[in-house]
Amino acid sequence: MRIAWLSDIHLNFVHHHRIETFSREVAESSAEAVLISGDISEAPYLKEHLNIMANIIRFPIFFVLGNHDFYRSSIDRTLYLAGEISSNSGNLVWLTGEMVVRLTNRTVLIGHESWNDGRIGDYKNSPYTPADYFMIEDFMGLKKDEKLKLMQSLADRAADHFKINLPKACQEAENVILLTHVPPFREACWYNGKISDDDHQPYFASKIVGDTIREIMHEFPAHNLTVYCGHTHGGGKAQVLHNVKVYTAEAEYEKPSIQRIEGIK
Ligand SMILES: [Fe+2]
Repeated sequence: MRIAWLSDIHLNFVHHHRIETFSREVAESSAEAVLISGDISEAPYLKEHLNIMANIIRFPIFFVLGNHDFYRSSIDRTLYLAGEISSNSGNLVWLTGEMVVRLTNRTVLIGHESWNDGRIGDYKNSPYTPADYFMIEDFMGLKKDEKLKLMQSLADRAADHFKINLPKACQEAENVILLTHVPPFREACWYNGKISDDDHQPYFASKIVGDTIREIMHEFPAHNLTVYCGHTHGGGKAQVLHNVKVYTAEAEYEKPSIQRIEGIK
């Protein structure tokens, strides 16, 4: 089976016509399924943009959201919307609402958006202010320590999801693909060809998800986990354990593209 991996396509920044031509490129690639690791659009346009894609790409589109997908809305309303989009479509599948999805005899898929949790790097002294703080309703008006608590509770939800579904996935197949928006390891936070510094790590990495993955994959040494993530817009690959590799997407605003086409067994 061949899959096309997309990430950080930010369709709100491109013309309607380009969304259609990009969708046709994906449809006409050799892929039979699409994985999107978040930052698809922004909340008010998410449904429209995903449905344009789904009507042109007739095969399954598995997706998780990214932080930008919550922009101009709230976390709960956007999560509800993602569930609704998925259940009203014949080929759009929101992975956070699923458990383990079988792709082939030997490979299964799980996913959750996750969130950067401020547990790596220097959150307290970082001068960086992510747009999340003024573009997502839940963060507006919070103090710095309250924002951290919210970020951590969102990341913890992802870790809880993977604590249940990653062991289950390993019991079902020898190869597992994990789709998430936020890189779960310091060494997967690529930016301009380098690993991000301590000012950016708090906003780029989800430590709790990375710790959860390491712990579980130690127990399944003969299984292979491939993580596809985005968020930093800097591409790279990290071999985190002998059985865990992480691809981080290289992405540019206004230029949606296919990250890679991968043949899976
Ligand atoms: Fe992005």
